[in-house]
Amino acid sequence: MRTEQPKMIYLKDYRAPDYLIDETHLTFELFEDHSLVHAQLVMRRNPAAGEGLPLLVLDGQQLELLSLSLDGQELSAADYQLGDSHLSLQPKAASFVIDSSVRIHPESNTALEGLYKSGSMFCTQCEAEGFRKITYYLDRPDVMSKFTTTLSAEQHRYPVLLSNGNPIASGPEEGEGGRHWATWQDPFMKPAYLFALVAGDLWCVEDSFTTMTQREVALRIYVEPENIDKCQHAMDSLKKSMKWDEEVYGREYDLDIFMIVAVNDFNMGAMENKGLNIFNSSCVLAKAETATDAAHQRVEEVVAHEYFHNWSGNRVTCRDWFQLSLKEGFTVFRDAEFSADMHSRTVKRIEDVAYLRTHQFAEDAGPMAHPVRPEAFIEISNFYTLTVYEKGSEVVRMIHTLVGAEGFRKGSDLYFQRHDGFAATCDDFIRAMEEANGIDLAQFKRWYSQAGTPRLAVGEHYDAAAQTYSLSFKQSCPASPGQSEKLPFVIPVELGLLGAQGQALPLRLQGEAAAGAASRVFAIDQAEQLLTFVDVAERPLPSLLRGFSAPVKLSFPYSRDQLMFLMQHDSDGFNRWEAGQQLSVQVLQELIGQYQRGETLALDQRLVTALRSVLQNERLDQAMVAEMLSLPGEAYLTEISEVADVEAIHAAREFARQQLAEALFDLLWQRYQGNRDLSRSSAYMAEAEHFARRSLQNIALSYLMLSDQPKVLAACLEQFEVCDNMTERLAALAVLVNSSFEDEKAKALASFADFFKDNPLVMDQWFSVQAASALPGALQRVEQLMRHPAFTLKNPNKVRALIGAFAGQNQLGFHQADGSGYRFLADQVICLNALNPQIASRLLAPLTRWAKYDGARQQLMKAELERILASGELSSDVFEVVSKSLAC
Ligand code: BES
Ligand code: ZN
Repeated sequence: MRTEQPKMIYLKDYRAPDYLIDETHLTFELFEDHSLVHAQLVMRRNPAAGEGLPLLVLDGQQLELLSLSLDGQELSAADYQLGDSHLSLQPKAASFVIDSSVRIHPESNTALEGLYKSGSMFCTQCEAEGFRKITYYLDRPDVMSKFTTTLSAEQHRYPVLLSNGNPIASGPEEGEGGRHWATWQDPFMKPAYLFALVAGDLWCVEDSFTTMTQREVALRIYVEPENIDKCQHAMDSLKKSMKWDEEVYGREYDLDIFMIVAVNDFNMGAMENKGLNIFNSSCVLAKAETATDAAHQRVEEVVAHEYFHNWSGNRVTCRDWFQLSLKEGFTVFRDAEFSADMHSRTVKRIEDVAYLRTHQFAEDAGPMAHPVRPEAFIEISNFYTLTVYEKGSEVVRMIHTLVGAEGFRKGSDLYFQRHDGFAATCDDFIRAMEEANGIDLAQFKRWYSQAGTPRLAVGEHYDAAAQTYSLSFKQSCPASPGQSEKLPFVIPVELGLLGAQGQALPLRLQGEAAAGAASRVFAIDQAEQLLTFVDVAERPLPSLLRGFSAPVKLSFPYSRDQLMFLMQHDSDGFNRWEAGQQLSVQVLQELIGQYQRGETLALDQRLVTALRSVLQNERLDQAMVAEMLSLPGEAYLTEISEVADVEAIHAAREFARQQLAEALFDLLWQRYQGNRDLSRSSAYMAEAEHFARRSLQNIALSYLMLSDQPKVLAACLEQFEVCDNMTERLAALAVLVNSSFEDEKAKALASFADFFKDNPLVMDQWFSVQAASALPGALQRVEQLMRHPAFTLKNPNKVRALIGAFAGQNQLGFHQADGSGYRFLADQVICLNALNPQIASRLLAPLTRWAKYDGARQQLMKAELERILASGELSSDVFEVVSKSLAC
């Protein structure tokens, strides 16, 4: 808990560290009611930081100092200054050794940062600033050190003792306690945030990987014994990732062993500690019977992401936390490309763009908006954001689009080679891309410094006589906190022109000698810009921003008929989907207007026609059919509204779904049955074609259930009961939960919970499905579920599954006009503030979006934010988000 006033930290204040730590020798003695940490730091003055011997200021929080010595001389309290978060002392020479011993309490650490216990095992989470809760240290990423770690614990309870690097010695401890110890050494220099240790009763699945230079690497996944049957998918994913990084980036793994440990209590998804990744069990464990297709894909993606950090993060790390996107944005881009290569590239892009536009765009339009490289923060944990991650990845993708795959590889090779073993900045990354490609990215870098989502308004003019076609581009970017004026971005726009038969027209710009490719990338870099194409024999239809080539809000005055044409004919799969989304948005906005005016709702039949032809198209990838059938979500419709009308959005979307279900019943039923037969007759596989057909099967089922046909209920119940995988079972359960078949619903929920009561990850799904249901009484259901024996506020997965799903996925339930949803969320945030500040602060996000709602709801939401602010001593995490949200 914060005791000093929260302080703002600024990028412009960055200074190199005064001292360096060449070697770090740690000894942990783990006990049930406390732990002891002895640290020996071999230090010296940083020659790059100036003259003299300034005061040495070590970070440290919640540590009980037991002893301290300098060069072997025990210090007394008069020799150092001890504060809440620092320990300072005056070195007497340019090189020296500090020894400290502290007592800490992992057994009561509910914040899950530093050293803590998850169930019966000890584990650590040090990024970003958790190492200072373990020992006094220079806890900043530009201080890199060689770590040697010894841990000791009771042999019986903690047979497995792990840390970073290679095991170099182990044995029983002398004396009675039945204790043993192990020593690990990491040959690579690393910052403290990559430190990890684990002690527990764990089993492991073992495999090996032969690298491109024929070195054998031992691969181990450690889990609690009951989960040993759920590791194969993560192991397969790891081997694929290692191979992909060699092939696509030329990056080889560097230690003899790579370990993953699964823990149940974890604030995030996973952590890339050198050689010892620690994972939320939800991002490791997967088998057909207990994990959905989405969960399987999440495991693959997270395993890849953390593995890829070994180069983009660990070998080359960040100079300071303002540079976080250097490792996170880049690594998200790397894992997205990996997933695209493993499965369907277009489907992966659609999923990522839908997520970005719904959630990152909302963040970028709200009170917490910040640039990809922020300039100031109070609490760094609050800056692991959608902007740093997802928009950061889009920024790297745009560079890739501008320089091409080969140019990008030259740039990444130069970056890795030049900065290997060092702490780098976003500017260093850009410089490598510039120098490897002989280009200037000075203006492009505004993507790192300017917040807000740019708007790009496009107009057209066709001159039939001159056979020219002009596209006019006008870019702008709304103000964001601390930034009222924005300068033009470099916006890569990939586009093509379609003729009346849907054929691609040649693209030749005025002044060019010959036509180029049929789809080209143009860098739009001025506030207003005109592209004029010549030799355009017929009036074309433009396909703009193909593959979502830039994270902007593009507008072009398409008619609904033109969108239907693009849905059919665009050669770019992403834009075919995008045309369908835009058509749906237009149709839904019309329904929203009708609802608000009290008119009878009438669905534009063109949407029915468009989706009918999608369903009839047997050549389309089934996953694409499923994506096209998914109407834009309520959260996205909220994001694109000036003022979101919660009830109208819900009513309009449900009405459209109902109408589509009736009009397309037969086609949906056919698709459902065809795929359900395949599911029944073949064993589950976690691969693209199976994912595709199950996604279509399940979305078809969700539509079909909107009809009152008894055969659908029977099919749904049969799918729920007779299947070999969680994807089918959970989808059927979700459909029942959202239906009005009360008896069947109650029975299914009860039998599911009874069968899976001992599997916490499955129970998370069971909570989520209920929390997300928009049927009346949502809050009461959630409050009741909080009293369920499987629920606890101490486990982040449970909090996310129940409270997070309610506030984030249940627009109607959460935004009840009486403010009950807001009050409930604020109560939970106040509770969690004391238990786990990071989780409390993340859970708050929906309340920070108040500007999107009507005046009455705004007042209610702000009143709850005020109540949190006044509730007592706030963590810096919660304080920063609440105070910034109220400041606007
Ligand atoms: N380095 C992060 C984990 C992290 C984040 C630790 C914040 C401490 C504070 C890790 O590499 C990461 O980004 N994990 C993501 C998943 C990934 C697939 C984007 C996560 O945990 O959600
Ligand atoms: Zn990461």
